[in-house]
Amino acid sequence: MKKKIYITRKLPSVVIEKLANDFDIYMWQEEEQAVPRDVLLEQVKTADGVLTMLTETIDTEVLDAAPNLKVISNMAVGYNNIEVDEATKRGILVANTPGVLTETTADLTFALLMATARRLVEASGYLREGKWETWSPLQLTGMDIHGATIGIIGFGRIGQAVARRAKGFNMDILYYNRSRKIEAEEEMGATYADFETVLKKSDFVCLLLPYSPEVHHLISKNELSLMKKTAVLINTARGGIVDEEALYQALKNKEIWAAGLDVFEKEPVDLDHPLLTLPNVVTLPHIGSASIATRINMAQLAADNLRNALLQAGPVMKVNKPDGW
Ligand code: DGY
Repeated sequence: MKKKIYITRKLPSVVIEKLANDFDIYMWQEEEQAVPRDVLLEQVKTADGVLTMLTETIDTEVLDAAPNLKVISNMAVGYNNIEVDEATKRGILVANTPGVLTETTADLTFALLMATARRLVEASGYLREGKWETWSPLQLTGMDIHGATIGIIGFGRIGQAVARRAKGFNMDILYYNRSRKIEAEEEMGATYADFETVLKKSDFVCLLLPYSPEVHHLISKNELSLMKKTAVLINTARGGIVDEEALYQALKNKEIWAAGLDVFEKEPVDLDHPLLTLPNVVTLPHIGSASIATRINMAQLAADNLRNALLQAGPVMKVNKPDGW
């Protein structure tokens, strides 16, 4: 009998077809809507494996409902939507999709940095709203990117890919990471500094670290107060890393200059969120990895992880190491 897998979002048929020979596939049929919680809880009752998105919270309630579950394959590099320790205790393997989204997410991070520094969204609105009456010397002036100091918090794959882009812009590169990355320092001319120094010295502070409870509100009132008044904060990692109320106050009171946010504590962010009222904030709907090619590659890798783990048939990007795996 074939094993049952449940896929929590409609994925491209090119990805699904490859799984069809080996598994009984059940899939939530919407592309734009997350699977309702009650449907997920029902479907996992008989599933051997699930392919999840970051929109699904895989907690003890889901794991309790899934007695046969062996593998959770998340279509994301981040996996803070999954209670990994709980899965490990139950012998459930968790997999993710690192690598395939690195360059695309670095592109978006740099695009957001540039859009925020040069006020692109505001400038586009200015034109469309008929405010452009003449050229004037200080109209819509922003911050230079070339020659500025970028401070990268979290110097893993994506952090380093952003640093490579920064090098091309002749930026000074500072970084903070739990461990030093000597090879990358040499390749990019990056300088390791402690967390506070990166905050104090950088013109652009980019958050590129994985979320865990230890880094919840890592950037709050105190950290924002250490940053330059002309600094720009860029977050393409996870919303929970930034205390949004503190960020709102810092931006409103001009303690920092601007922010570019691709991620929020609650997603989708509420339309009446105070941060959305500020002209010096560029907001995006969590599109860091959203290129057509990369999303297909992520779906394919998540499918391969699930297949290879359940059939013990090849490499798996493992997040945990439960007994027996
Ligand atoms: C991830 O992979 O964790 C991103 O946030 C979504 O691509």
